[in-house]
Amino acid sequence: MTKYILIGAGGHAKAVVEAIRGAGGAIVAYVDPREAAWLNAARISDDGLAAEVAAGSTVVMGIGGVETDSLAKRLALLQTYRSAGIPFRAVIHPAAYVSPTAVLGEGAIVLAGAVVQPGVSIGPGAIINTLAVVEHDSEIGEGSHVAPGAIVLGGCRIGECCMVGAGAVILPGAMIADHSLVPAGTRYPS
Ligand SMILES: CC(C)(COP(=O)(O)OP(=O)(O)OC[C@H]1O[C@@H](n2cnc3c(N)ncnc32)[C@H](O)[C@@H]1OP(=O)(O)O)[C@@H](O)C(=O)NCCC(=O)NCCS
Repeated sequence: MTKYILIGAGGHAKAVVEAIRGAGGAIVAYVDPREAAWLNAARISDDGLAAEVAAGSTVVMGIGGVETDSLAKRLALLQTYRSAGIPFRAVIHPAAYVSPTAVLGEGAIVLAGAVVQPGVSIGPGAIINTLAVVEHDSEIGEGSHVAPGAIVLGGCRIGECCMVGAGAVILPGAMIADHSLVPAGTRYPS
């Protein structure tokens, strides 16, 4: 069984933990300044994290983000850990579909009911949230968040640390610049 250390144990982490457990993994510890009563695992420091990784545990990002600034901070934290030699696993909920020709970057997260179609590239640390769809040949940039129910149609290029709000529809071939917000329930281009 793969053993995971969770970075951040807030609300988004609950969905990440279910994805890991559903895929047969176990959370053995977490790093968070606050106690997480909902999570039956040990709270550890960054030093403890390094020791767990040396002992064979893998690391997953539990922190979410719904604003482009918080997504940028989240990505910077992930990069800080990566440059300290702490690798992140990609996580796929067992009820998600990810095409065998899609490529997921380090620490990418695909949650329940999401669909990632052929030729898609999901950047490191990106979140494809519940019931989101990323259609064929689209690219989701590093650290971006495609929120629940959002649909990215074919051949789109979404930049880094973008927030694609819940239920938004990105029309085929659209290009979205780094650090952009697409409000929930809208379509782009309008
Ligand atoms: C667009 C959205 C952020 C507006 O939120 P709001 O609280 O109604 O609007 P506010 O007027 O308070 O604006 C909040 C911030 O969003 C910015 N904003 C609002 N509408 C925007 C738009 N259409 N495009 C870009 N930025 C926008 C505002 O400038 C403001 O920025 P600031 O905090 O730096 O001043 C919100 O409707 C939204 O879509 N949020 C995403 C929700 C979501 O999908 N969550 C997923 C959870 S997993």
